[in-house]
Amino acid sequence: MHPTLALRALAPLSESDVDELAAGRLVIRDNAFGEDLARRSREVLLGWREQGRLDAAGVGRGGKIARIRSDLTAWVQPDDPELTEVFVLFEGLRQGLTRDLRLSLQRFAVQAACYEQGAAYGPHFDAFRGDHSRRVTAIWYLNPNWRPEWGGQLRAHLPEGPVDVLPRLDRLVIFLSEQVKHEVLPALAPRFAMTSWYRGAEPLPLLPDPRFG
Ligand code: OGA
Ligand code: NI
Repeated sequence: MHPTLALRALAPLSESDVDELAAGRLVIRDNAFGEDLARRSREVLLGWREQGRLDAAGVGRGGKIARIRSDLTAWVQPDDPELTEVFVLFEGLRQGLTRDLRLSLQRFAVQAACYEQGAAYGPHFDAFRGDHSRRVTAIWYLNPNWRPEWGGQLRAHLPEGPVDVLPRLDRLVIFLSEQVKHEVLPALAPRFAMTSWYRGAEPLPLLPDPRFG
Protein backbone atom coordinates (compact mmCIF):
# COMPACT_ATOMS: atom_id res chain seq x y z
CA MET A 1 0.00 0.00 0.00
CA HIS A 2 1.24 3.43 -0.90
CA PRO A 3 0.75 6.14 1.66
CA THR A 4 -1.29 9.02 0.31
CA LEU A 5 1.13 11.51 -1.11
CA ALA A 6 0.55 15.13 -0.34
CA LEU A 7 1.72 17.32 -3.19
CA ARG A 8 4.55 19.40 -1.96
CA ALA A 9 4.71 23.12 -2.52
CA LEU A 10 8.01 24.37 -3.86
CA ALA A 11 9.82 26.76 -1.53
CA PRO A 12 9.57 30.36 -2.74
CA LEU A 13 12.44 31.85 -4.69
CA SER A 14 14.79 33.78 -2.45
CA GLU A 15 15.99 37.29 -3.26
CA SER A 16 19.30 35.82 -4.42
CA ASP A 17 17.48 33.32 -6.69
CA VAL A 18 15.62 36.23 -8.26
CA ASP A 19 18.91 38.12 -8.73
CA GLU A 20 20.50 35.04 -10.32
CA LEU A 21 17.63 34.66 -12.80
CA ALA A 22 17.70 38.35 -13.67
CA ALA A 23 21.45 38.12 -14.30
CA GLY A 24 20.90 35.34 -16.85
CA ARG A 25 21.86 32.45 -14.59
CA LEU A 26 20.12 29.26 -13.46
CA VAL A 27 18.21 28.34 -10.35
CA ILE A 28 18.59 24.61 -9.62
CA ARG A 29 16.32 22.81 -7.12
CA ASP A 30 16.89 19.18 -6.21
CA ASN A 31 14.05 17.13 -4.66
CA ALA A 32 11.68 19.46 -6.44
CA PHE A 33 8.36 17.68 -6.98
CA GLY A 34 9.15 14.40 -5.22
CA GLU A 35 11.21 11.39 -6.29
CA ASP A 36 8.26 9.06 -6.27
CA LEU A 37 6.31 11.27 -8.68
CA ALA A 38 9.43 11.64 -10.85
CA ARG A 39 9.79 7.85 -11.08
CA ARG A 40 6.11 7.38 -11.89
CA SER A 41 6.23 10.13 -14.51
CA ARG A 42 9.23 8.45 -16.13
CA GLU A 43 7.20 5.22 -16.32
CA VAL A 44 4.37 7.13 -18.02
CA LEU A 45 6.77 8.49 -20.62
CA LEU A 46 8.36 5.07 -21.17
CA GLY A 47 4.82 3.84 -21.93
CA TRP A 48 4.23 6.70 -24.36
CA ARG A 49 7.47 5.86 -26.12
CA GLU A 50 6.37 2.21 -26.43
CA GLN A 51 2.99 3.30 -27.79
CA GLY A 52 4.62 5.59 -30.36
CA ARG A 53 3.15 8.72 -28.76
CA LEU A 54 6.48 10.59 -28.90
CA ASP A 55 7.38 12.26 -32.21
CA ALA A 56 10.58 13.52 -33.68
CA ALA A 57 10.87 17.12 -32.51
CA GLY A 58 10.47 19.70 -35.25
CA VAL A 59 8.67 17.42 -37.70
CA GLY A 60 6.14 19.40 -39.67
CA ARG A 61 7.79 22.70 -38.93
CA GLY A 62 9.95 22.89 -42.01
CA GLY A 63 12.67 20.66 -40.62
CA LYS A 64 14.68 23.62 -39.36
CA ILE A 65 14.29 22.56 -35.74
CA ALA A 66 14.85 18.91 -36.64
CA ARG A 67 18.39 19.77 -37.73
CA ILE A 68 19.39 21.01 -34.30
CA ARG A 69 17.40 18.66 -32.07
CA SER A 70 17.09 14.88 -32.35
CA ASP A 71 14.96 14.04 -29.30
CA LEU A 72 11.38 12.70 -29.28
CA THR A 73 8.66 14.91 -27.80
CA ALA A 74 4.96 15.13 -26.96
CA TRP A 75 2.85 17.97 -25.57
CA VAL A 76 1.30 17.05 -22.25
CA GLN A 77 -2.43 17.84 -22.07
CA PRO A 78 -3.66 19.53 -18.86
CA ASP A 79 -6.37 16.87 -18.50
CA ASP A 80 -4.07 13.91 -19.03
CA PRO A 81 -5.14 11.59 -16.19
CA GLU A 82 -1.66 10.06 -15.89
CA LEU A 83 0.07 13.37 -15.26
CA THR A 84 -2.49 15.43 -13.35
CA GLU A 85 -0.25 15.88 -10.32
CA VAL A 86 2.61 17.09 -12.51
CA PHE A 87 0.32 19.71 -14.01
CA VAL A 88 -0.81 20.85 -10.59
CA LEU A 89 2.83 21.26 -9.52
CA PHE A 90 3.76 23.19 -12.67
CA GLU A 91 0.71 25.42 -12.02
CA GLY A 92 1.95 25.96 -8.46
CA LEU A 93 5.31 26.94 -9.92
CA ARG A 94 3.54 29.43 -12.23
CA GLN A 95 1.94 31.08 -9.21
CA GLY A 96 5.23 31.13 -7.31
CA LEU A 97 7.17 32.61 -10.23
CA THR A 98 4.48 35.23 -10.82
CA ARG A 99 4.69 36.26 -7.16
CA ASP A 100 8.47 36.07 -6.68
CA LEU A 101 9.57 37.47 -10.06
CA ARG A 102 6.70 39.97 -10.24
CA LEU A 103 6.04 38.83 -13.77
CA SER A 104 2.57 38.27 -15.10
CA LEU A 105 2.85 34.67 -16.23
CA GLN A 106 -0.60 33.77 -17.43
CA ARG A 107 -0.22 30.51 -19.29
CA PHE A 108 2.11 27.58 -19.62
CA ALA A 109 2.65 24.58 -21.84
CA VAL A 110 4.41 21.37 -20.85
CA GLN A 111 6.40 19.22 -23.23
CA ALA A 112 7.78 15.76 -22.50
CA ALA A 113 11.08 14.88 -24.19
CA CYS A 114 13.12 11.71 -24.56
CA TYR A 115 16.72 11.69 -25.77
CA GLU A 116 18.42 8.43 -26.65
CA GLN A 117 21.12 6.94 -28.85
CA GLY A 118 23.20 10.08 -28.91
CA ALA A 119 20.28 12.50 -29.35
CA ALA A 120 21.14 16.12 -28.64
CA TYR A 121 19.81 19.66 -28.96
CA GLY A 122 22.19 22.31 -30.30
CA PRO A 123 22.63 25.78 -28.79
CA HIS A 124 19.43 27.85 -28.78
CA PHE A 125 17.28 30.28 -26.86
CA ASP A 126 13.74 29.22 -25.94
CA ALA A 127 12.42 32.67 -26.86
CA PHE A 128 13.64 35.72 -28.68
CA ARG A 129 13.91 39.10 -27.08
CA GLY A 130 10.78 41.15 -27.41
CA ASP A 131 8.45 38.49 -28.77
CA HIS A 132 6.47 38.46 -25.49
CA SER A 133 5.97 34.74 -25.60
CA ARG A 134 8.03 32.43 -23.44
CA ARG A 135 9.35 34.21 -20.38
CA VAL A 136 10.47 31.44 -18.02
CA THR A 137 11.68 27.91 -18.74
CA ALA A 138 11.46 25.19 -16.07
CA ILE A 139 12.89 21.74 -16.82
CA TRP A 140 12.18 18.77 -14.54
CA TYR A 141 14.42 15.74 -14.99
CA LEU A 142 13.31 12.13 -14.60
CA ASN A 143 16.49 10.05 -14.64
CA PRO A 144 17.43 7.91 -11.61
CA ASN A 145 21.14 7.20 -11.05
CA TRP A 146 22.29 9.24 -14.02
CA ARG A 147 26.00 8.72 -14.63
CA PRO A 148 28.22 11.54 -15.90
CA GLU A 149 29.69 9.24 -18.57
CA TRP A 150 26.23 9.03 -20.18
CA GLY A 151 26.54 12.69 -21.18
CA GLY A 152 23.18 14.38 -21.73
CA GLN A 153 24.14 17.43 -19.68
CA LEU A 154 22.21 20.66 -20.00
CA ARG A 155 24.96 23.11 -20.98
CA ALA A 156 23.96 26.67 -20.15
CA HIS A 157 25.99 29.55 -21.55
CA LEU A 158 26.11 31.95 -18.62
CA PRO A 159 27.70 35.42 -18.60
CA GLU A 160 30.87 33.94 -17.05
CA GLY A 161 31.00 30.90 -19.30
CA PRO A 162 29.36 27.50 -19.80
CA VAL A 163 28.07 25.35 -16.93
CA ASP A 164 26.90 21.74 -17.27
CA VAL A 165 24.00 20.31 -15.28
CA LEU A 166 23.32 16.58 -15.04
CA PRO A 167 19.67 15.58 -15.70
CA ARG A 168 19.21 13.96 -12.29
CA LEU A 169 15.94 12.52 -10.95
CA ASP A 170 13.63 15.20 -9.54
CA ARG A 171 15.99 18.09 -10.33
CA LEU A 172 14.32 21.28 -11.52
CA VAL A 173 16.21 23.93 -13.47
CA ILE A 174 14.69 27.38 -13.97
CA PHE A 175 15.91 30.22 -16.16
CA LEU A 176 14.61 33.18 -18.16
CA SER A 177 13.77 31.90 -21.64
CA GLU A 178 15.05 34.98 -23.46
CA GLN A 179 18.30 35.25 -21.54
CA VAL A 180 20.03 31.89 -21.38
CA LYS A 181 21.45 30.21 -24.45
CA HIS A 182 21.59 26.48 -23.76
CA GLU A 183 21.99 23.06 -25.36
CA VAL A 184 21.71 19.38 -24.53
CA LEU A 185 24.91 17.37 -25.03
CA PRO A 186 24.53 13.94 -26.69
CA ALA A 187 22.84 11.48 -24.33
CA LEU A 188 24.07 7.89 -24.36
CA ALA A 189 21.25 6.50 -22.20
CA PRO A 190 17.50 7.27 -22.42
CA ARG A 191 17.07 10.72 -20.91
CA PHE A 192 13.60 11.91 -19.94
CA ALA A 193 12.51 15.40 -18.97
CA MET A 194 9.44 17.60 -18.88
CA THR A 195 9.75 21.25 -19.75
CA SER A 196 7.23 23.92 -18.85
CA TRP A 197 7.34 27.26 -20.63
CA TYR A 198 5.60 30.11 -18.85
CA ARG A 199 4.22 32.82 -21.06
CA GLY A 200 3.34 36.40 -20.44
CA ALA A 201 0.54 38.44 -21.93
CA GLU A 202 -0.49 37.81 -25.50
CA PRO A 203 1.64 39.60 -28.08
CA LEU A 204 0.03 42.70 -29.57
CA PRO A 205 -2.45 41.78 -32.26
CA LEU A 206 -1.21 42.30 -35.79
CA LEU A 207 -2.33 45.70 -37.03
CA PRO A 208 -3.71 45.90 -40.57
CA ASP A 209 -0.98 46.71 -43.07
CA PRO A 210 -1.66 50.32 -44.21
CA ARG A 211 -0.32 49.52 -47.70
CA PHE A 212 -3.30 47.28 -48.30
CA GLY A 213 -5.89 49.76 -46.95
C1 OGA B 1 14.30 22.55 -24.59
C2 OGA B 1 15.60 22.34 -23.89
C3 OGA B 1 16.92 21.19 -22.23
C4 OGA B 1 17.01 19.94 -21.42
O1 OGA B 1 13.46 21.63 -24.58
O2 OGA B 1 14.12 23.65 -25.13
O3 OGA B 1 16.47 23.12 -24.09
O4 OGA B 1 17.92 19.86 -20.57
N1 OGA B 1 15.76 21.29 -23.04
O5 OGA B 1 16.20 19.02 -21.62
NI1 NI C 1 15.63 24.96 -24.73
